[in-house]
Amino acid sequence: MTLPRLRFDAAQAADPLAAFAPRPEWLWLEVGFGGGEHALAQIAAHPRTGLIACEVYANGICSLLAKLVAEGMEETGALPPNLRLWAEDARPLIHALPAASLDGLALMFPDPWPKARHARRRFVHPANVVELARVIRPGGVWRIGTDDPVYQAWTADVLAAQHFFEVPPPATERPAGWPPTRYEAKAVAAGRRPLWWELRRNAAAT
Ligand SMILES: C[S@@+](CC[C@H](N)C(=O)[O-])C[C@H]1O[C@@H](n2cnc3c(N)ncnc32)[C@H](O)[C@@H]1O
Repeated sequence: MTLPRLRFDAAQAADPLAAFAPRPEWLWLEVGFGGGEHALAQIAAHPRTGLIACEVYANGICSLLAKLVAEGMEETGALPPNLRLWAEDARPLIHALPAASLDGLALMFPDPWPKARHARRRFVHPANVVELARVIRPGGVWRIGTDDPVYQAWTADVLAAQHFFEVPPPATERPAGWPPTRYEAKAVAAGRRPLWWELRRNAAAT
């Protein structure tokens, strides 16, 4: 099995860089990696950055693992040293991380939960913003991509109501250095128009 060899253990949350060998210089976290396209492209492009990639969906986790190791090589195939997987809800892990421990967090095409009565399930949520402001270091980055019009308007409203992150207008074309995802390709093919936010943690706000 490949997953146990890559798994980020909850006990490692107090010193997350120590979960990697060699110890990376920077640490990013990706919430909901889906099939893993974005996560795998990022670890290849940034070998000195450790990535904790989180996903609850078993098929997604299997899809990423299948891209990493050939069948029959699950126990011995070489694995990227700068990737660890969290195969559960990302929120308890984020809660367990030390303050200012993340250089960046990627939230690529989160589940939109478009019905108003499900709004509290959206990852972009005032309570999560406060928690992300705790774990993302001053000057660190929070990237959000979403194609859903309800989620786009919701995200703009939530971000306008907080003071922890600087919020430039979202890009209407995927910015350079943001690898594409499977979900994004489907959304564009269906005629939806994604927006991409790159937020920076405000050094002064507490
Ligand atoms: C719409 S899909 C997008 C997947 C991928 N980022 C992409 O763009 O192709 C959202 C993914 O986030 C995962 N997810 C949602 N909430 C999560 C959470 N709290 N922790 C980890 N994964 C989560 C879901 O299982 C789902 O695979």
